[in-house]
Amino acid sequence: MSFPRALPASRVPDPMEAPPLRWGVLGTGWIAQRFCDAMVRHTRQRVFAVGSRTRQGADTFADAFVERNTGVETGWPMERPAAYGSYEALVADPDVDVVYAATPHHLHLPHGRLALEAGKATVVEKPMGISAAQVAELEALASTRALFLMEALWSAYLPKFDVIRQLLDAGALGTVHSVQADLGERFGPGHRIMRADLLGGPRYDLLTYPLWFARWVLGDFNEVHEVVTPAPTELSPDGVEGQIAVSARSSSGGVASLFATILGDTPRTATVVGSAATLHIDGPFYQPGGFTLRAHDGRELRYDEARIGHVGLHFEAAAAARAVAAGRSAARHQTTG
Ligand SMILES: NC(=O)c1ccc[n+]([C@@H]2O[C@H](COP(=O)([O-])OP(=O)(O)OC[C@H]3O[C@@H](n4cnc5c(N)ncnc54)[C@H](OP(=O)(O)O)[C@@H]3O)[C@@H](O)[C@H]2O)c1
Repeated sequence: MSFPRALPASRVPDPMEAPPLRWGVLGTGWIAQRFCDAMVRHTRQRVFAVGSRTRQGADTFADAFVERNTGVETGWPMERPAAYGSYEALVADPDVDVVYAATPHHLHLPHGRLALEAGKATVVEKPMGISAAQVAELEALASTRALFLMEALWSAYLPKFDVIRQLLDAGALGTVHSVQADLGERFGPGHRIMRADLLGGPRYDLLTYPLWFARWVLGDFNEVHEVVTPAPTELSPDGVEGQIAVSARSSSGGVASLFATILGDTPRTATVVGSAATLHIDGPFYQPGGFTLRAHDGRELRYDEARIGHVGLHFEAAAAARAVAAGRSAARHQTTG
């Protein structure tokens, strides 16, 4: 294909059009708060119930949610979510349509299982499991029960990645030779990412985004090499991985160079090199933002959108709602295995 005259439009439907579901939020941490706020402001999805390990945790989350969002123009009249003092009570609520499990990585399998065994459509934070076997177990359970199961790899639902998908499929880059992507942020000693018991480190966390992106572009890897260094003990006395550099080759012959670190900030950009053009995604590449497609003869096309950060989580909520309403079953993103 010759270099396109213009970028294609995103095919992502208006999130406000997604059929409203009643969400049950399992776990009340950092991402759960952002997910709920994004959803309530930009979709018609309802934050219907919340479950925490303690009743106090659930009440605090529910009250703070109402306080933050009262007066905000929402897709649904503001309501206080039902607050449950256990995850079991949350998934037992017959009025919850879909459970969003937002607990630490080692709990995705048991909490995904809990929600599916309760008969709920289930969205599990990334990575869906910490091994291919764990993901397979959840997928088998969802399939046996004909339930929707999705990994909350939110980037996959952003409009810009749909535009990029169209460019790749149309051959606008020519033969794709390589992907480079990095994601590094500095975390303090108290953060869960510094705790070995919560499977901290970049592997199950930041690395999921470069890994997902490279496989999304290049296809499955058949050769992977990694170099890992530990986090300094003053940051993580129990010892978690600090930095991971990955070199990989896909079955198509494309090469990936990926990097993730919890020790400091990196550009967080991604680049795809093709025989006809190179795609440069602005950092943070996995969030809403811009990119440039540059032909080797110098022609350029630029994509820009509001850099709304985690407010963009509402796109994955809307995608899940559309899929559940349409009776679809699964959405996995190859961050595991
Ligand atoms: N999509 C994204 O951009 C994004 C960003 C950040 C994180 N994440 C993912 O979201 C998940 C949660 O991350 P987070 O940053 O939100 O973590 P967090 O702030 O530590 O919250 C995790 C929540 O899990 C619950 N929990 C259950 N058992 C726990 C245990 N043993 N220790 C600690 N918490 C426990 C707690 O809720 P209760 O006290 O209410 O039970 C806690 O608030 C991770 O899988 C992470 O990879 C995704």
